[in-house]
Amino acid sequence: MPTIKRRDFIKGTAASAAASVLPWTMTGNVLGANDTLGAATVGFRSRGHSHIRLVNNKNGCKLVALCDADKGVVGSGIKKYGESVKGYTDIRKMLEQKDIDIVTTATPNHWHALVTIWSIQAGKDVYVEKPVCHNVWEGRQMVEWARKEGKIVQTGTQSRSSRSSIGKAVKFVQDGNLGKIQYAVGTCFKPRKSIGKLSQPMQIPENVDYDLWCGPAAKVDLYRPRLHYDWHWDYNTGNGDMGNQGIHQMDIARWFLGEPRLSPRVLSVGGRLGYDDGGDTANTQTVYHDYEKAPLIFETRGLPNRDLNWGTGMPRWRGSGVGVIVQCEGGHVLVPNYYSAVAYDKSGKEVKKWRGTDPMTPHVQNFLSAVRSRKHSDLNADIEEGFVSSALCITGNISHKLGKPASPSSIQSALKSDKLFAESAERLAQHLEANKIDLNKTKVTFGAVLEMDPKTERFTNNDAANKLLSRAYRKDFAVPAANGKKVASG
Ligand SMILES: NC(=O)c1ccc[n+]([C@@H]2O[C@H](COP(=O)([O-])OP(=O)(O)OC[C@H]3O[C@@H](n4cnc5c(N)ncnc54)[C@H](O)[C@@H]3O)[C@@H](O)[C@H]2O)c1
Repeated sequence: MPTIKRRDFIKGTAASAAASVLPWTMTGNVLGANDTLGAATVGFRSRGHSHIRLVNNKNGCKLVALCDADKGVVGSGIKKYGESVKGYTDIRKMLEQKDIDIVTTATPNHWHALVTIWSIQAGKDVYVEKPVCHNVWEGRQMVEWARKEGKIVQTGTQSRSSRSSIGKAVKFVQDGNLGKIQYAVGTCFKPRKSIGKLSQPMQIPENVDYDLWCGPAAKVDLYRPRLHYDWHWDYNTGNGDMGNQGIHQMDIARWFLGEPRLSPRVLSVGGRLGYDDGGDTANTQTVYHDYEKAPLIFETRGLPNRDLNWGTGMPRWRGSGVGVIVQCEGGHVLVPNYYSAVAYDKSGKEVKKWRGTDPMTPHVQNFLSAVRSRKHSDLNADIEEGFVSSALCITGNISHKLGKPASPSSIQSALKSDKLFAESAERLAQHLEANKIDLNKTKVTFGAVLEMDPKTERFTNNDAANKLLSRAYRKDFAVPAANGKKVASG
């Protein structure tokens, strides 16, 4: 392996501001075009393995470290990838290892911002899974830290590397081939069964350092049977399915709309319906982002077609299951997966088709070539793109969290001036009725109507909503502000 030259990374004010929050020495690597990049993966029980596959003696990288808050995961990783890879449970210790150039991370969502920012502060470039952040404020800090320290941060929204399929469809629409865009609808119709419910707090698996696992999130008793993965369905650690699967489709929809910022108005209708379990995130939801040019509507369905019977399959809307529909004056485009798109004219006749292949490999390669060029503009899914799309999921959930139970008739009357949203809410009601959920007894939540100034990323009409833009971080796990100001911790 060629020698990697190193130098002190940061001088001056940035260094002194950051040094106050960092226990380790900051280093940065100056890389030649052919130097091998030392890679570390943080959080690799499941998704992290798809990162490791691409950086373990591949694509000009060598896996040198693995980190997971679950000792069992670390042990099996070392067994699988070899003793030359160093294993850690605490990322702060891992970041002291000098031969790491890039960090890839697939921890639960509540850790994404801290892993990214600590890695940036330690001089590394980062590949971070979607959603990039758990709250809006910390996502913006990730962008600012990356810019301030000149680091390359790619978001794990791999569809953005489907340049020759979805990318071409975006251009086709934005060039006006189907006329003006009227709206985009993202659909995340994926089966999400009950995660179960415990009457006593969960016994945390003994291999897991629960304090580290919680990190910035509240350290609370859990009443679900499984610690791993099911954190998605707890707002303390996850963002529901809109912020899990749905972030991919939210991002594709926003890509077509060409909107670079958060929406000026957001409203959610939905709830966690059909079962009572240890989760609290909505499993059935419609979120309306009221962009001025054309709205972005996002529909999540976790329940089956009918009768709460999984054998009846999942619903689809206009051919979209987990996908995106972009409606224009002269036809529409359907994006049914991560690498293809089909355009139809007004009569429903197919007029153009784009098809690629799974974009994960080119997406990681795109990250690595930007690491070498040092230009974040070379990235297909720069952290700022990932942040804005992640934040659209999060503001939708903030509207939901501040909502009130409502009957179908009161929802329809509140939405009567908004035809598209009223239709989407009606589809949601019909879907729940098909599952025999009596909406006059089990009420859905009509969210708070939230107005936002997309420049300041603050709500202008609701103080409670502004409080939910960030969180009270636990001591030792506070996300540092890029401007060096002190942040509230719980
Ligand atoms: N881009 C994609 O297509 C895609 C696909 C699947 C998952 N993901 C994303 O990947 C992430 C992980 O998902 P998963 O299904 O693998 O979750 P998981 O719960 O199975 O695994 C997460 C792992 O992170 C570990 N962890 C928790 N805190 C940690 C810490 N402080 N330091 C190190 N490790 C820590 C856990 O112990 C666990 O082993 C999620 O954000 C998810 O949204 C992306």
